[in-house]
Amino acid sequence: MRYSEELIDEVRSRNDIVEVISGYIQLKKSGANYFGLCPFHGEKTPSFSVSPEKQMYHCFGCGASGNVFSFLMQYEQLSFPEAVQRLADRAGIALPKRELTGKAKEEADLRQKLFEVNKLAANYFYIQLKSPKGEQGLSYFTGRALTDATIRHFGLGYSNKTSDDLYRFLRGRGYADAVLKETGLFTYTEKGVFDKFWNRVMFPIMDANSRVIGFGGRVMGDGEPKYLNSPETRIFEKSRNLYGLNFARSSRKKYMLLCEGYMDVIAMHQAGFTNSVASLGTSLTEQHAAILRRYTDTVILTYDSDGAGVKAALRAIPMLRNVGISTKVLNMRPHKDPDEFIKAEGREAFEQRIAEARNSFLFEIDVLKRDLDMDDPEQRTRFYRETARKLLEFDEPLERESYIDAVAREFFIPKDELAALVNRMGLSYGTGSRPSAGANARGSAGMPEQPVKMQANPRKRREDGIRQSERLLLGMLINDPTDFDKIRGIIGPADFQDPVYRKAAADVFAQHEKSPDGKVLPAQLLSRYQAEGDDAQEIAGLFSEGMAASLRESGPKALTETVRKIRKNSLDVKLREAGDIREMQEIIRQQAELANLDLG
Ligand code: GTP
Ligand code: MN
Repeated sequence: MRYSEELIDEVRSRNDIVEVISGYIQLKKSGANYFGLCPFHGEKTPSFSVSPEKQMYHCFGCGASGNVFSFLMQYEQLSFPEAVQRLADRAGIALPKRELTGKAKEEADLRQKLFEVNKLAANYFYIQLKSPKGEQGLSYFTGRALTDATIRHFGLGYSNKTSDDLYRFLRGRGYADAVLKETGLFTYTEKGVFDKFWNRVMFPIMDANSRVIGFGGRVMGDGEPKYLNSPETRIFEKSRNLYGLNFARSSRKKYMLLCEGYMDVIAMHQAGFTNSVASLGTSLTEQHAAILRRYTDTVILTYDSDGAGVKAALRAIPMLRNVGISTKVLNMRPHKDPDEFIKAEGREAFEQRIAEARNSFLFEIDVLKRDLDMDDPEQRTRFYRETARKLLEFDEPLERESYIDAVAREFFIPKDELAALVNRMGLSYGTGSRPSAGANARGSAGMPEQPVKMQANPRKRREDGIRQSERLLLGMLINDPTDFDKIRGIIGPADFQDPVYRKAAADVFAQHEKSPDGKVLPAQLLSRYQAEGDDAQEIAGLFSEGMAASLRESGPKALTETVRKIRKNSLDVKLREAGDIREMQEIIRQQAELANLDLG
């Protein structure tokens, strides 16, 4: 059984979107709408808008959009039923016991059990650590100067040398193989089932809500692999979780420290740097960056000082930059990582290094320079050109200007010459197209580069134009239902070419017919798609982009022109498919008539 459409709509309408979103980000009223900084991409000026009237949000920057359910789903990474549950609780609406249908219920139960098993396993490993069998693990941790409180705080543990005791423990607790198989904690073979983690110290990995979702295990001694991690499961997605985030998110510091490994995070927290996190045995992903952006706008990279650490930093910086995080790089030398640094020099010295952390752009230029021989004219020229190319990546003239200043000062390049080089390269690239990496490696200094031309496919552009018009028309109809009367008999859902848009149009027209005042509630239509488990993202984008566009283009002829364009295209399609001459003549007659269309 699913919740009824009425119930879902009651939950939706009793949770005002402005109030709900205000609980997450700061919104400011401007005209009929509210604006704030988009939580789904990085930005410095607000382009995230919330419409109290439509009960929808839309970001003009990244295109994120939807209703109050989508917001929770996107922000909190909830499923649709979970979002409904949250908002029902918030509004004090009692939901009937959700008796999910076959598959969905199985899936929800399984997820639930996976959380339970991971938690039980964490407890089990913790108890092992404190038992006589765990002596080796415990002395490893104390040898690395972890206190008892830290061990408890992070729930650290030990997987002992018995090859299947965790398995037997969990079977004894009544968990079936069907569940245990999905936890990733066991190896199933013909000879039997074995614990995957064996003689390792264990790091439970928690999600942002402190639920155990997986483990990292470090080998005792020098075995391979040094760290073994749980495989990805239904509840463990490495690219979406950061070790330590459950604590760091409430550290109330202005910045976050991004480390390479578990031990670094733990050592940092123990030293009081509770705003430290690490990605989980994988390099930083775009999702990680977006998640970090929810909590902070500044990240200090505290990666290892070796080549791998520098490489990881160079990968992370643009990713963080893309979401609007400004990044600094901490100089760890002469030590290898934060753990060693703090042990050797202590907390204050580390604070000092944080204060001195290098601006990420200058760090990138440092690395560039490090690999080139400045005494060789050719390499020096390359350095200037690469630097200029990177400076061109700043879109804002003021920002670019101040970086030109900084680079000139830091690297002893005459400022005027650097600025001239940047300008020259900028001109030859033309506006609107970014220089591509490596494109500048050819050609000699001072020679204009080949401009990068945008190759557009005219046919594709035309189709996009139609899609745009289809979106726009739907937006107009939603914004002003009196438009329905003007277009009746002239255009209908069948004229929409994009299948998704056509279905949405059918719903919009139908809702208009049904509703007493003719109004269309996009937020309500959307929850129907969400409830059906469809990918509602595209519909959400369609509605809100359409609405935004229709507000922009609400000139007197906008409706006529839009309808004409869609209808003309629809007739073109019909003409291509027409079966006989008479049909074709009729279509051509209708097309000619379109010229006189005037919807006022
Ligand atoms: P310690 O020797 O325990 O101090 O390790 P470390 O904290 O110095 O970690 P290291 O720099 O070797 O690695 C950093 C992070 O990379 C670890 O925390 C793991 O998440 C990950 N990692 C390291 N080795 C392995 C490995 O062999 N396999 C996997 N999957 N991840 C690893
Ligand atoms: Mn280390």
